[in-house]
Amino acid sequence: MTRNVVIGFLGTQLDGGLSPARWEKWRPTVSLVQHDDMVVDRVELIHSSQHTALAELLARDMASVSPETEVRLHVMDVANPWDFGEVYAALYDWARAYAFDTGGERYWAHITTGTHVGQICMFLMVESRFIPGVLLQTSPPRRQRQGDPGSYTLIDLDLSRYDALAQRFNQAHTEAQDFLKSGIATRNASFNALIDEIERVAVRSRAPILLTGPTGAGKSHLARRMFELKQSRHQVSGAFVEVNCATLRGDGAASTLFGHRKGAFTGAVADRPGLLRNADGGVLFLDEIGELGLDEQAMLLKAVEDKRFRPMGGDKEVSSDFQLIAGTHRDLRQDVQAGRFREDLFARINLWSYTLPGLARRPEDIEPTLDYLLALAVAEGGRSVRFHAEARQRYLQFAKSTQAPWSGNFRDLTASVTRLVTLAEGGRISLALVEAEIQRLQWFWAREPVAQDEQAVDLDALLPDPLRAGLDLFDRLQLEAVVRLCRQSSSLSDAGRRLFDQSRTQRTVVNDADRLRKYLLKHGLSWDRVTGR
Ligand SMILES: Nc1ncnc2c1ncn2[C@@H]1O[C@H](COP(=O)(O)OP(=O)(O)O)[C@@H](O)[C@H]1O
Ligand SMILES: [Mg+2]
Repeated sequence: MTRNVVIGFLGTQLDGGLSPARWEKWRPTVSLVQHDDMVVDRVELIHSSQHTALAELLARDMASVSPETEVRLHVMDVANPWDFGEVYAALYDWARAYAFDTGGERYWAHITTGTHVGQICMFLMVESRFIPGVLLQTSPPRRQRQGDPGSYTLIDLDLSRYDALAQRFNQAHTEAQDFLKSGIATRNASFNALIDEIERVAVRSRAPILLTGPTGAGKSHLARRMFELKQSRHQVSGAFVEVNCATLRGDGAASTLFGHRKGAFTGAVADRPGLLRNADGGVLFLDEIGELGLDEQAMLLKAVEDKRFRPMGGDKEVSSDFQLIAGTHRDLRQDVQAGRFREDLFARINLWSYTLPGLARRPEDIEPTLDYLLALAVAEGGRSVRFHAEARQRYLQFAKSTQAPWSGNFRDLTASVTRLVTLAEGGRISLALVEAEIQRLQWFWAREPVAQDEQAVDLDALLPDPLRAGLDLFDRLQLEAVVRLCRQSSSLSDAGRRLFDQSRTQRTVVNDADRLRKYLLKHGLSWDRVTGR
């Protein structure tokens, strides 16, 4: 027979009373053993040493109404029973040390007694299965009558109706991620993992966050969305204040950020609070933080660490409590090495650092992003515009190929969609229009100063699935270099000649192109795939 065991805190108020009159009132812990339809074999009663006398009295009272119930007393002393951390730690230690026998016993965690903090901790123990059981809630009888034990409810958190509650939390989580992605159904696994973590950090942390990535990758957009997400969760009281540090120059920079007192310099005709003050209680987004001067960097570090700083020309410090989000397209690590960026500030903002990948690095997201931008352009323009089927296919084929670097990322794609929508005749984007747009984009990108040999080779996007995982770093590095050289070469033969220019002189039969073709094939690649030609 499975035995029923109740675990609970002694209720110093509800279970209290030493005089005979105590039998006239409802006492939750005693009521546990007074129900005819519920057999309690054992009660584990947790109490502080201060209440030992009361606990012993309760044990005797329970023995008198239910002799078959064993009552065990456990002393648990915490300095402050209202301190969540202390109570949780004490109960956790207790549960870890307790010899649960889930084969022979059933555990009911009584949550009607104890401080609220104790009750919450009891709930958490059950929810996390450190106490492997269900919750037990007791309530007084409607009308107090001696000997009436009132009622009780068992709450099994594993039951599906509580699952539904958990699902609601999960749904909120998914909605927050969708919100950060503007509802674009992105498919790139690493990008989605990135957003998932950013969502958790955004709602849980007030520490500085660093967003890096190429221009147009969405750093500014994401920073504002993070703020809006915090706002929807009541986590900020202040404003979202944004400034691009590249626009701050000279004396004006410090004054714009930290404010100034009237008369601090010629032209300072009135006090100015500065952006840091404006962001009090909110979020300060410093875009292109790499452009900030070294002096301003030092002041910013102090402001972030102490939440205090001195305005220009002021003799008193002012305070501002803001969360810093910094954006940059630069490699700050390199800037630190070159002495252009303070190492201590970098260390401070590098705790949560995220690199947003450019569009070309997540080709599978181009289609959903295209649909999103198309819907947006249509909503703004007020007329319905759609692709012809083959026009859409052609556009996507180009957009996802290595021919399209999307160096301006979101901006480039937005501009491209705007052109297509504006030029579409009769609400249809035709193949001819797409071809013209592709030429325009190619012309545009050909003028970009990005050197081919600096362009990143994204092997993950290139390699077929099964081969991607099994590749050693050694092969990966070699393959990257080969792919880069292919892209710089005019033809397969040209690339072959350059790659094998030593060994070819020592052989009688020369077919460098074939050798290169076989090498690529070994990695599941072809010349066309590598070069996008
Ligand atoms: N996830 C996104 N959803 C919708 N629009 C976006 C998204 N990311 C960027 N954008 C838009 O693309 C443009 C460039 O983004 P932005 O955040 O300014 O890039 P960055 O700051 O990295 O240069 C902006 O007009 C922005 O609103
Ligand atoms: Mg920006």
